[in-house]
Amino acid sequence: MKIYCEKDYEAMSRRAAGILGAQVILKPDSVLGLATGSSPVGTYQELIRRYEAGELDFSKVTSVNLDEYKGLSGENDQSYRYFMNIHFFDHVNIDKSRTFVPDGLAKDSQKACTEYNAIIRREGPVDLQLLGLGNNGHIGFNEPAPIFEKETHCVDLAASTIEANKRFFEKEEDVPRQAYTMGIGNIMQAKKILIIVSGEGKADIVAQAFCGPVTPEVPASILQFHSDVTLVGDEAALSKLMERLEQ
Ligand code: GLP
Repeated sequence: MKIYCEKDYEAMSRRAAGILGAQVILKPDSVLGLATGSSPVGTYQELIRRYEAGELDFSKVTSVNLDEYKGLSGENDQSYRYFMNIHFFDHVNIDKSRTFVPDGLAKDSQKACTEYNAIIRREGPVDLQLLGLGNNGHIGFNEPAPIFEKETHCVDLAASTIEANKRFFEKEEDVPRQAYTMGIGNIMQAKKILIIVSGEGKADIVAQAFCGPVTPEVPASILQFHSDVTLVGDEAALSKLMERLEQ
């Protein structure tokens, strides 16, 4: 695993954008696995800046997003489709018809999952998967569980995730209780993985995920078994991991 320990959120975002940007320069028709949350916002801003400066071209890129809240339409300002549009897609020359996010409004959940798996198979393999890290070690919406789920599935959100994500909603009751997420198997099939973490609040879970036992109770720990993972974090988030690696 490659680790970049950056000074702060801005430096983390620049580093991550550099890695994603290099991927697109080297392979203009890359398939990017994309993520939401507060961690990647700065990365997307930096990619937009580089696009506006003429350094990047997204016209041949395909994207598949990790997850979506069940029950929210793409027009809902809390949906992940909406997030991707306003934070990234609307500002670069990506072909929106080549951007994929699970359908939060699908009538039949099982069918929605099967269809998303088919999209990942058809468009994939993902060249570079961007990930954030949940406070409880989740990746996408793969919550701590007794087993690693392989493919896209509908998940009951953990109480701690609802608590963490309520900051984006008016009130806690508005946070959807379920979501669609790529499975751990889908994520692990990406050729390369880029995980970004920031803030002191993530320091313990980062150390657990990358130095602790590989267990579905800490879903991100499975990344220890992937052969091409780059972790980019700020000093605060990486502090405990660095301590353990130095021991
Ligand atoms: C959300 C998303 C994840 C994201 C995580 C961390 O629940 N489903 O994909 O990585 O939370 O979010 P943040 O970056 O805001 O800490």
